[in-house]
Amino acid sequence: MTRRVLVLPGDNIGSEIVTEAVKVLEAINLQFDLGVKLDYGLLGGAALNVAGNPCPQDTLDSARDADAILLGAVGGPQWDHFERRLRPESGLLRIRAELQLFANLRPAIMYPQLANASSLKPEIVAGLDILIVRELVGGIYFGEPRGIRTLENGEREGYNTYKYAESEIRRIGKVAFETAMVRDKRLCSVDKSNVLEATILWKEVISEMAADYPDVELSHLYVDNAAMQLVREPKQFDVLVTGNMFGDILSDTAAMLTGSIGMLPSASLDQFGGGMYEPCHGSAPDIAGQGVANPLATILSVAMMLRYSLGSPDSASTIEHAVSRVLDRGLRTADIQTAGTTRVGTAKMGDAVVAELQAAAALV
Ligand code: IPM
Ligand code: MG
Repeated sequence: MTRRVLVLPGDNIGSEIVTEAVKVLEAINLQFDLGVKLDYGLLGGAALNVAGNPCPQDTLDSARDADAILLGAVGGPQWDHFERRLRPESGLLRIRAELQLFANLRPAIMYPQLANASSLKPEIVAGLDILIVRELVGGIYFGEPRGIRTLENGEREGYNTYKYAESEIRRIGKVAFETAMVRDKRLCSVDKSNVLEATILWKEVISEMAADYPDVELSHLYVDNAAMQLVREPKQFDVLVTGNMFGDILSDTAAMLTGSIGMLPSASLDQFGGGMYEPCHGSAPDIAGQGVANPLATILSVAMMLRYSLGSPDSASTIEHAVSRVLDRGLRTADIQTAGTTRVGTAKMGDAVVAELQAAAALV
């Protein structure tokens, strides 16, 4: 069986971290005989430079043909002066929307080896294992009308629309409840229903759905309180479900709890289990080309890809264990370095994960 993976390195550190993730994917492919075949495509600024479009049609066509997509990161100051529809970020939003990748899973797991790298006290974050389920193709990111207009008095006004249809809430709610069922069965829905109608409906629909999942303990928090609770006592959470914009913000907060956003993978899934896998972090133009970026979030995204889209949970766990062993050995990229550890660059980190995979395979 052939499994086709489309690789979209993207911009800035994107190609550096993807190179390492591909090394790991190729190693695991050999080890587990997965039949993975790689294709490459352009997205973001890289695509804009070549095709004048941050999400060209042939990228979309290859993405539709693929069993899964591995994405690095897009964007950078090189393209900041372009109008919004041409910006690299618009390419990312377009591929998410075109493929209807509505369910964004962002796990924040604290590796015990990194407890000292978090900005929070070790006892607050030790053992942390939470999952943010973010709606990814609706809400204020996509709502129409939107724009910047000139009012009668000559003043400019920017405006966006925050809306969620019941069906959109139900489909993300289903993913969240089902994910909670296979975890600790606790789900917290995050809204701003004290102010925003779109989230009054959100809360109502999620509450109605709870009847179908009697084993899941459902709670609700306003987004401001959720942000506070995440840094006060993050271990109170198991699964959080929220809309596009709140999920964007809360997932960066959750990421930092674990020591570095450089450790956080993500999966963006469609209704059928197809998906795009990418690190939660951005394209880090400030360190691009230096070979110092942390590739582990992208490598862990490969593990999520194997688990959710390529039907190989065993190989996913094998990668996750290899990452853990590399951390045990004290290897750290700059973002997670603490006293007494050994600093390595992007390529050395990727090689170290591959070496652990090979060492584990030799033991079998
Ligand atoms: C993310 C990013 C994107 C988002 C940007 C790059 C458009 O911040 O994936 O979290 O806001 O969704
Ligand atoms: Mg973000």
